[in-house]
Amino acid sequence: MSKEINSNDLMSLCKRRGFIWPSFELYGGVAGMFDYGPLGSSMRNNILEVWRDIYKGREGFIEIDSETVNPREVFKASGHVDEFSDLITYCTKCGSAFRADHLVKEFFENPDVLSPKELDDAFVKFDIKCPECGGKLGPVEEFNLMFKTNIGPGSSRVGYLRPETAQGIFVNYLNLYRYNREKLPLGVIQTGRGYRNEIAPRQGMIRMREFNMMEVELFVDPEDKGWIRFPEIENELISLVPNTGNETVMMTVGEAVEKRIIANKVLAYFVYTTQQFLTRLGIDPERLRFRQHLCNEMAHYAKDCWDAEVLLSYGWIEITGIADRGAWDLSRHAEFSGTELTHFKKFDEPREMDVEKIKAKHKALGPRFKDKAKAIAEIMETKQSSDVKDGKLELNLDGEDIVLDGEFFEVVRVREKVSGERVVPHVIEPSHGLDRIFYSVLEHSFSRDEKEDYTTLRLMPEVAPIKVGIFPLMEKDGLDELAMDIYRKVHSPCLEAYYDGSGTIGKRYARMDEIGTPWCITVDYESLSGPDKGTVTIRNRDTSEQKRIQIDSVPEILKNLLSGKPFRDL
Ligand code: GLY
Repeated sequence: MSKEINSNDLMSLCKRRGFIWPSFELYGGVAGMFDYGPLGSSMRNNILEVWRDIYKGREGFIEIDSETVNPREVFKASGHVDEFSDLITYCTKCGSAFRADHLVKEFFENPDVLSPKELDDAFVKFDIKCPECGGKLGPVEEFNLMFKTNIGPGSSRVGYLRPETAQGIFVNYLNLYRYNREKLPLGVIQTGRGYRNEIAPRQGMIRMREFNMMEVELFVDPEDKGWIRFPEIENELISLVPNTGNETVMMTVGEAVEKRIIANKVLAYFVYTTQQFLTRLGIDPERLRFRQHLCNEMAHYAKDCWDAEVLLSYGWIEITGIADRGAWDLSRHAEFSGTELTHFKKFDEPREMDVEKIKAKHKALGPRFKDKAKAIAEIMETKQSSDVKDGKLELNLDGEDIVLDGEFFEVVRVREKVSGERVVPHVIEPSHGLDRIFYSVLEHSFSRDEKEDYTTLRLMPEVAPIKVGIFPLMEKDGLDELAMDIYRKVHSPCLEAYYDGSGTIGKRYARMDEIGTPWCITVDYESLSGPDKGTVTIRNRDTSEQKRIQIDSVPEILKNLLSGKPFRDL
């Protein structure tokens, strides 16, 4: 059996057995869009639950669910309106659109870092023409990848479908910070749809226009990028491709931080967590590596970024990015919203420091604001110097917005004992592409014996959509009733079972092996009478080994197997 996989074989299995269906096939289909069928939905949920188990369970992070349509302001602040684009060229003859970097990929190692001018020049130098009609290619330009819409009737409020779930977490920072009792680190997870209007999606589920993400945003003290659990994993091995070369190097997580290959312990901890997560799902560790982004490859928000890449039939493909987003997002949203998004960092001991204070000019306030002057002065003196914008201070008195200029206040420096300071938290982000992970798990589990014409998906039990097939040897003589009885006892949304009474038993095993079901239970005549009365056989997918077990113990045995008990120990 080989690891060579034809993605068409796998996609045809996915379609035939109800994992994945190309969307809108009834109307000719739309590139880059897929629907999850019954098995795919279950398997996708199982992947999500493993992710939750790690981040919500083990790490204790909190989960939110924010809107997918966001007003323009959010993505203006986040930089996506100005920066989130790919380079496009249109054929001057037939009008077809192409991602410009894809057209030169055989001439450059990293074509996605080329500028529009460099791409224009490359078209001339390498005589590149329209792949559809051979026509001349037009000038390379930027194409923003966000889907634009209007919120409400008309075009009064422009909105975008979110290209990442992360922004929903950043714009909720103050709510989350309060919920976390104003403490750092603050870990927040969110799963949901993201949308990118890809220019020319190919490679099946690898480049989808509407896709599922599992994102983690971890807010940390910028001066303390240590991680309490780091010692637990510092001696574990990871496979890294640093951006100083193209070599893959294997080293411990601790060594990677010591040698400053990974910038800090939090980032390194979550690179390793990603490895744990992906291998627990069934990604082959030998086909997994972490590649550091080149400086000119990094997203506009990132200070450092490591991609988890897996080797698929398409080549090395990124399935997760672990980025250090620094203070980018909170600083930008603070600037654009005019709201402070910080953490109050308490000192161990109060310190004498020079601090800037707002001092009210009572002589100017009195004549102008009369009986409100005292209240205004009190509010002013609770404000920070950072609240002064363009020389003006805005405040609200009993619902009335008041804007004051320098005539009414001054910023003074005073020496004070202070108990702490305000800092903008930094963000570490492991961002997982759920669909790509889903597809990669299928490819790495796919095993085909051409000689026997037999396909097995060696899915990890916790990922497999159906955990157990339940068969009567024959659909008669009460075998079917007993099998159905067992099915009813074990089947639940957390442990999906599948009753199958049709065809030979071999065919039924084959049907379950093909969709990755780890175990099958068969009710036979021995189950009904004789010394083995009250027992059934249980078969292990990966070895075809069978054992007889008590019917009464089936639910318990399946629970144990799912928790990792080896089949041989039954
Ligand atoms: N939030 C990371 C990304 O959009 O890729």
